[in-house]
Amino acid sequence: MLSSLSKKRILTGLQPSGALHIGNYLGALKPLIDLSNDPENETFLMVADYHALTSVRDGNQLREHTHQIVRDYLAAGVNKDNVTLFRQSENPHHMELSWVFNCLVTVPFLMQAHSYKDKVAKGMDANAGLFTYPMLMAADIVLYDIDFVPVGEDQRQHLEYTREAVTKFHNAYGELFKEPKEVIVKGVGVVPGTDGQKMSKSYKNTIPLFGTREEIQKAVMSIVTDSSGDKPEHVFNIHTIIYRVLGKSQVELDALYHEHTGKYKALKDALVEDIEKVVAPMRERRAAITDDQIRRILMSGAEKARAESALKMTVVRERIGISF
Ligand code: TYM
Repeated sequence: MLSSLSKKRILTGLQPSGALHIGNYLGALKPLIDLSNDPENETFLMVADYHALTSVRDGNQLREHTHQIVRDYLAAGVNKDNVTLFRQSENPHHMELSWVFNCLVTVPFLMQAHSYKDKVAKGMDANAGLFTYPMLMAADIVLYDIDFVPVGEDQRQHLEYTREAVTKFHNAYGELFKEPKEVIVKGVGVVPGTDGQKMSKSYKNTIPLFGTREEIQKAVMSIVTDSSGDKPEHVFNIHTIIYRVLGKSQVELDALYHEHTGKYKALKDALVEDIEKVVAPMRERRAAITDDQIRRILMSGAEKARAESALKMTVVRERIGISF
């Protein structure tokens, strides 16, 4: 059921493994929302719940995070009329196709994936799900003939892996899938956290997207400042990104930092105010979303997702030799 083939198809996914932070929003969710507002695009947004199983071990917690992330998507501005919003686990084609890809790529190839290598380098026990993670992500994307995938820089390699899986499939079974491209928006590919490193749940350096004002304030006040310069670089870098989102000019921001040279507290207060300008309206919207709305949206999203990928999966089964 591939409707309107001339339209560009967009998809991204986020793991429901904890509260979203502003890096997730700016790097992936906002670019997807912006693209979904163009009538030339057909947009899919997925809750990557099977991917989250690589780290979440509590069923109730996964259910709760899943519920919350859908609420976050809608509050952030996802319009259910423009976007097919669904849970990965509700379309079995994802797991099925990922197995086919797993049988095409080699162990040494998967061993080069950063997501796996980083865990191993930190001395953590990587589970097999984490190891084969890129092939599930490849399936997520190519099942829907996706053209563009808005993501943060840390997902670039996963898109390369996706294209490689497609090539391997094509070499073995003939042409079938589109080769998707990553969309990494300049300036927000790596949103820095409170310590200047990439903002990440696992680094405990996040500014929560849907925190209370107090939580945002606490996170901003914890931004590491270096007393050797006039300008607190880490504060300034996050502020630069937030200014861009607000459509304010860099000249204005430079002037603010010049005017408050050496006054770190005042500059952090100004950053809190500016983050609030971005998130306060979303927070308000979030409070108005009902459980019933979430349930209905997920139900229709799941149906649409399954219908969209059914034909593709039928062809896959024929080509690999499991349909008679
Ligand atoms: P996840 O859940 O780790 O992160 C969700 C998205 O947020 C982006 N991101 C950032 N962007 C900019 N700066 C940051 N500091 C930052 N931190 C996180 C990530 O790059 C990501 O785009 N594998 C994916 C989920 C996934 C997926 C997919 C994505 C599963 N299937 C298919 C796209 C298409 C992941 O773990 O994202």
